[in-house]
Amino acid sequence: MAKAPVDLFAFAHAHRDEVVWMSQNTNTIPLHPAIEEAVQESLRSGEYRLYSYRPGVFGLPEAILADLSLDGYEVFLTNGGIEALYAVQRAFLGEGDEILATDPSFLPIHHQAEMSGARVVELPIYREPWKLTAEAVEAAVTAETRALLVIDPHNPLGISYPAEELRGLTEVARDHNLLFLHDVTYRDFNTGQHLATTWYPERTLLFYSFSKGPGLAGMRVGGVVGPPDLIREVRRFDTNVLGVNVLAQRAGLAALDTKEEWLPGLLETCRANQETIRGAVEKAKGARLPVFPSRSNSFVVDLQDTGIDPHRLEERMLLDHRVHVRAGDYLSKRFGSNFIRVSFSVPTEECARFPAAFLETIERLRA
Ligand SMILES: Cc1ncc(COP(=O)(O)O)c(C=O)c1O
Repeated sequence: MAKAPVDLFAFAHAHRDEVVWMSQNTNTIPLHPAIEEAVQESLRSGEYRLYSYRPGVFGLPEAILADLSLDGYEVFLTNGGIEALYAVQRAFLGEGDEILATDPSFLPIHHQAEMSGARVVELPIYREPWKLTAEAVEAAVTAETRALLVIDPHNPLGISYPAEELRGLTEVARDHNLLFLHDVTYRDFNTGQHLATTWYPERTLLFYSFSKGPGLAGMRVGGVVGPPDLIREVRRFDTNVLGVNVLAQRAGLAALDTKEEWLPGLLETCRANQETIRGAVEKAKGARLPVFPSRSNSFVVDLQDTGIDPHRLEERMLLDHRVHVRAGDYLSKRFGSNFIRVSFSVPTEECARFPAAFLETIERLRA
């Protein structure tokens, strides 16, 4: 009888304490103590016995706007940014509509668009310049196009858009009256982040998350920020009228209050970890990093010239070395068999396990 395939996430969770979690763009670098203290205090106070205040615990929406340096916008808080993406797409997309996005991408967002009946037009960016251009977007617009999804910094590639490029994308959006969905989930990792609201304030929605920079993925808190008239439309699809996890909100507020204290260390750890991984990739014949450095907390390692199946690499690195990376087909139907995605916001000493795990596995699978 054939052996049943191992559920790699079940395995990784069962061995959580031993696994280097480089598979989900989470951030496992130790938290600032104020964040854990805020959760403990919330627990002690018993406020979780009540439904949380729907707009957010006092001060949190304001802190999010301050973090984005925005005024006059509204925050719609959700259980993670992914819930906000769902509500927005339900509110603005319908049968026969098109939304422009990239390939590769964070595909769960595309699946949500399809739940609204829309068609996702995936513009291939697995090649130079590894990102959208205003020309490519312009060429893809049709009479049915309603929205443009720009993940910036990009998951999984790690590129971001300098001011001029982002402005160019907003101009195409304005010319065609598109909704600009600017997903800035990974903005904390990017030192030169721009927001589409600068050039297209009236039809931009910003997707915001506490999962990545602040490192609170399992808490589930995030949201969407936009002009009040657009947010009013989004609220019609609020599937969570009883409020967002209050412990998560307290953690998020503490993370924003202390951001100046933890962000420099986080960026330094990520910079050093990227170098560690690059050193290993350079030693593996046929493997390469198409985008380096990444402006996010992940990048892709291209394996095409090694002839190795990314799934086999993911499986063997996890089962034999307890280092979990992600095979590319989670992020791309067309290009997924070419790469793995590696998330490097992990403690330095954990990232140090990557080179041996990667190189030994590559050599074994090549044999
Ligand atoms: C591009 C992008 N957007 C949104 C999300 C959702 O993040 P969360 O729901 O944890 O805030 C993710 C998660 O990986 C992502 O990669």
